[in-house]
Amino acid sequence: MITAIRGTHDILPGEVERWALVERVARDLCDRYGFVELRTPVIEREELFAKGTGETTDIVQKEMYSFTDKGGDRVTLRPEATPGMVRAYIEHGLEQALPAVKLFAIGPMFRYERPQKGRYRQFHQLDVEVIGPDDPAVDAEVVDLAWTFVRELGIPRVELLVNSVGCPACRPRFQQALLEALGADLPRLCEDCQRRARTNPLRIYDCKVEADQPIIDRLPHAIDYLCEPCATHFADVRGHLDRWGIPWQLSHRLVRGLDYYTRTTFEVRGEALGAQNALLGGGRYDGLVRELGGPDRTGIGFAAGLERLVLALPEAAGRTPAPRAFVVAIGEEARHGALGLLRDLRTAGLAAQMELGARGVKAQMKRADRLAARVVLIVGGDELARGEVTVRDMRDGSQRLVPRADAVPAAAALLQEG
Ligand code: HAM
Repeated sequence: MITAIRGTHDILPGEVERWALVERVARDLCDRYGFVELRTPVIEREELFAKGTGETTDIVQKEMYSFTDKGGDRVTLRPEATPGMVRAYIEHGLEQALPAVKLFAIGPMFRYERPQKGRYRQFHQLDVEVIGPDDPAVDAEVVDLAWTFVRELGIPRVELLVNSVGCPACRPRFQQALLEALGADLPRLCEDCQRRARTNPLRIYDCKVEADQPIIDRLPHAIDYLCEPCATHFADVRGHLDRWGIPWQLSHRLVRGLDYYTRTTFEVRGEALGAQNALLGGGRYDGLVRELGGPDRTGIGFAAGLERLVLALPEAAGRTPAPRAFVVAIGEEARHGALGLLRDLRTAGLAAQMELGARGVKAQMKRADRLAARVVLIVGGDELARGEVTVRDMRDGSQRLVPRADAVPAAAALLQEG
């Protein structure tokens, strides 16, 4: 037997309805907030992520699906959406083409991670990006969208964490303070932290090694080292969130695992998820557009992991099938009439099914039950001859004869009731 690759998943009927629900809410919300969809390729040049996601990140160092294609080019299955979205923005001059650059994307991402609950090698994201304005109200709008998304999905026990990691003007001061505070303790930290201290000291805050925590707890916090413009920006963002009644918590450990972040960073975490508790995360990336060869524009966005959202949804969400009709044919001579009725129901926009293999009435009724049909239309030889159809309300079992011409409206009325 050939099985699916480790860390990848089939999304089966029964589960896929929950995915459809998450995607429906995402699209509806993005539309309400003025975001338009952008679809970029799953495969990009490797250098896009080396430059965009960043050479010092775990993603680029350890997790990318990169290979040389048959033409000799180095290509990568995208580990995240942001660099591709920014590339497309630059390549197509979207700043001119669109009234506002507010973009969203939904699709698969690939990271060669160690799979566990909530962490996969192929996973899916809703990604949202705003490129252009650097007003703190934009940060707050994006955080609001993220928070509202999780709330509208009905996910219980969630918390919103925010932080500011400063900008190239103030971060060196903070990094220096971090290294000074570490001082003689540095050799006692884990190997990963030793590497982080050399490449990107902020990332020490990502460390999960138990023994390192007492040392990390004593380190200075980024927000105490912000320059005046960054401090004002962050205060304004928090002010908007407060006025809108969005409950946030400051987390000085929220430095995020990608290189491009500046200023605001945020995450929404869910309790139900165990170790992989980040439902979504994002932040501002004011240098990325220029870094990738575009104009000097700022940006902010986030990505939500759809697998994690589906895991965290309330148990019943997306599990109630839409009401549908079922057509039962009694006897061979009624089949053509039944098939005609089936087609009429569908043409009228109703969800309708019929058992197409030749089977007895009992088997057909059983199938209608399994499908939880809301209404069953029974076509029999005698009734057909009289131009009538039996309409059975499956909720209370009552049934009545209606003229064939009234069968579709009668079914529609019951389906409407739900
Ligand atoms: P990220 O934090 O790497 O950010 O990923 C965002 C979300 O994707 C995570 O919070 C998690 O829900 C989900 N996720 C990440 N890795 C996995 C995995 N292996 N399995 C399942 N779910 C996963 C980004 O990707 C940035 N591009 C977000 C962003 C957009 N920042 C600015 N704009």
